Amino acid sequence: MKSSRLECFANDSAVSAPDSRFAWPFFVDGNPPYNFVHFPVTSQSALPLPDAEDWLRRIEYALDAATARVVGCPQALHEAMRYSLLGPGKRLRPLLVLLAARACGGSIEAAMPAACAVEMVHAYSLIHDDLPAMDNDDLRRGRPTCHKVFGEALAILAGDALLTAAFQVLANEVRPPALAAECCAVLAEAAGAGQLVGGQAEDIEANAVNTIDDLESMHSRKTGAMIAASLVLGAKTAGADPPRVEALANYGRRLGLAFQIVDDLLDVQGNEAAVGKRLQKDARQGKRTFPALIGVEASRRRAEQLVAEACAVLEPFGSSARELRALAGYVLERNR
Ligand code: IPE
Ligand code: IPE
Ligand code: MG
Ligand code: MG
Ligand code: MG
Repeated sequence: MKSSRLECFANDSAVSAPDSRFAWPFFVDGNPPYNFVHFPVTSQSALPLPDAEDWLRRIEYALDAATARVVGCPQALHEAMRYSLLGPGKRLRPLLVLLAARACGGSIEAAMPAACAVEMVHAYSLIHDDLPAMDNDDLRRGRPTCHKVFGEALAILAGDALLTAAFQVLANEVRPPALAAECCAVLAEAAGAGQLVGGQAEDIEANAVNTIDDLESMHSRKTGAMIAASLVLGAKTAGADPPRVEALANYGRRLGLAFQIVDDLLDVQGNEAAVGKRLQKDARQGKRTFPALIGVEASRRRAEQLVAEACAVLEPFGSSARELRALAGYVLERNR
């Protein structure tokens, strides 16, 4: 019986020995595999990074490899997992992991397992968020939602499997093991009952949110926590010291709240073809959102203020946080 980490997550083009630092097939001795440059970038994005396509290609490649061959997984479940994980998302969270690692002087390959893990948790959260029992959506990333394609039961299970796989990737692929355990704890907290799941529970509970503080708290938990965790994970894989980790977490919390405010605004003002989701749904479903509570203009001002604060927090990083600053601007300007 094979026991290597490759058995679960590698694709057939894996080249390194199972125990090598590069066993997971992102890079071989720091270089992309030979077919890497031809790897398709599914997510079309106007990311304000000079080499955006290269970043995205690395992430797509790693996500694909992470799920290319999961031993023992029924085919339909595998298809549902890959349908949702590899669909054309913006990949904001994995990008934040990688950019945080870079800003702290770390390597992309050391950060990539964490980048994949956050996108896996994110993909699971979207599958469950779209279910009839939650937001009951039929369109996601410009395509039918997972449960519309695979049925509700399999969609629930695909979400379960992606959530679990995220922790498997962290536990198996982050080195050394003590850092892997730390990363698992960071992700578990952000994804768990106090943060993402707790925020989602408030989102569907009629009386949980009344004031702007309640709403900021809910948005920070259901969305902001995973974005902040992305920064923390990137910083930790780079071996950053606690003040740097905390500064990036602070940036991430502000950016994460701004991101959900803009998501609320896009539901009101966006273009369905660009956003890839049904719009005007929040009001119909009586959701507590920023535009519903304080109006469009005040919502945009609050998002702008948060992004300005997020960028100010990055000051000590100087030019190494150039990309993180650019991404913060993108969060405000995005149309999808
Ligand atoms: C959508 O997240 C769900 C929210 C937290 C608002 P994204 O807007 O990042 O979705 P994708 O990954 O690009 O599809
Ligand atoms: C979802 O918020 C946040 C998650 C944790 C998935 P929304 O319900 O507003 O996200 P969209 O608009 O469906 O993407
Ligand atoms: Mg929702
Ligand atoms: Mg939703
Ligand atoms: Mg929304």
